[in-house]
Amino acid sequence: MRYNFDEEIDRHGTNSRKWEGMQEMFGRNDLFPMWIADMDFKTPPEIIDAIKKRADHGIFGYTFRSESFYDSIIKWMKGRHGIDVKREWIVDGAGVVSTLTMAVLSYTNPGDEIIVQPPVYYPFFRIIQNNGRIIVNNPLKLKDERYTMDFEDLEHKITKRTKMLILCSPHNPVGRVWKREELETLGEICERHGIIIASDEIHSDFVYSPNVHTSMLLTDFKELALTFIAPNKTFNLAGIPSSVVIIPDKKIRDRFLIASENFELETSNIFSIVATETAYTYGAQWLDELLIYLKGNFDLVKAFFEEKIPQVRLINPEGTYLGWIDFRNLGLSDGELYNLITERAGVALDDGNLFGIGGSGFQRMNVATPRHLLLKGLERLENALRR
Ligand SMILES: Cc1ncc(COP(=O)(O)O)c(C=O)c1O
Repeated sequence: MRYNFDEEIDRHGTNSRKWEGMQEMFGRNDLFPMWIADMDFKTPPEIIDAIKKRADHGIFGYTFRSESFYDSIIKWMKGRHGIDVKREWIVDGAGVVSTLTMAVLSYTNPGDEIIVQPPVYYPFFRIIQNNGRIIVNNPLKLKDERYTMDFEDLEHKITKRTKMLILCSPHNPVGRVWKREELETLGEICERHGIIIASDEIHSDFVYSPNVHTSMLLTDFKELALTFIAPNKTFNLAGIPSSVVIIPDKKIRDRFLIASENFELETSNIFSIVATETAYTYGAQWLDELLIYLKGNFDLVKAFFEEKIPQVRLINPEGTYLGWIDFRNLGLSDGELYNLITERAGVALDDGNLFGIGGSGFQRMNVATPRHLLLKGLERLENALRR
């Protein structure tokens, strides 16, 4: 291993939301943080060096993205995911959630319906509701500890006002890596009803063998999809946001570009450009090693629960670094469970109810932390349960 993911780095004094910003969500700041999706690992040294080098120049004027920036994305998509992306398909963004919001504004009108598949990344609800659109829930089905899409329910929920589906692929928080057949079925239904698919693929670089990420871009329905990718999660760059949206269909793309112009979002953050290009050019080995480490962390969580608290189960994570943990067998109410975790164990997890329908009795645990810290959090949970 060239990179050391066991190194513990003190994040206090950096305005880290995960470590120092718990007050708003949990009412206190002294919990052991295993919530919010960023990692306690340093970004690859190549990225740190590139940012330092750019900072040393000292002038940070208006900056554009060079062709080498787009090349790095095209090569990453081909090398990592086997996807041929054309340069003209790539549209700039400044983070996935804000770019998804622009998609909502571009392709739907107030009062239109947008489908989500809960339990799901909860900002999706906000960007629909806060913009006067209507959330239509197509809940995932859980059977034998595995989640699948409910296509029958989907067909029933679609009306003339349904204009968009926001897909989470891989799925945060349940950890599914959707298979080609599932995506083709979804695509076929959406195409038949004229529904655009906004495919949030921010977690696509976190997939554990034998699972393989299939982008919407690799399906027969890529023309009705917008695919959102970013180095933010993969390389722990959430504080210098950057993203792109890949839109093969020219008409759909042009509509998005108008919204983008209307928001006057042309200026780019110098450091996010440098970080993105460096990440996609030099980050592959670091990511390969990180994936091995994260898989080891998930194995630890699974074994820990099996051995020490067998009533608690980790849903098999096919992708992402977020564990979806089933506490339902403890027989506690949601309030009691929250109390047990925050008050008695002193741990911050993301409460399942935040993720909408199907979240009750579950908690999301971020495992992207040095292994000894992960163990510390697990032991706190175990001790609280024993008491
Ligand atoms: C599915 C999903 N989309 C988007 C984001 C956030 O993206 P960004 O920080 O680029 O807005 C997250 C962060 O956890 C996520 O899990």
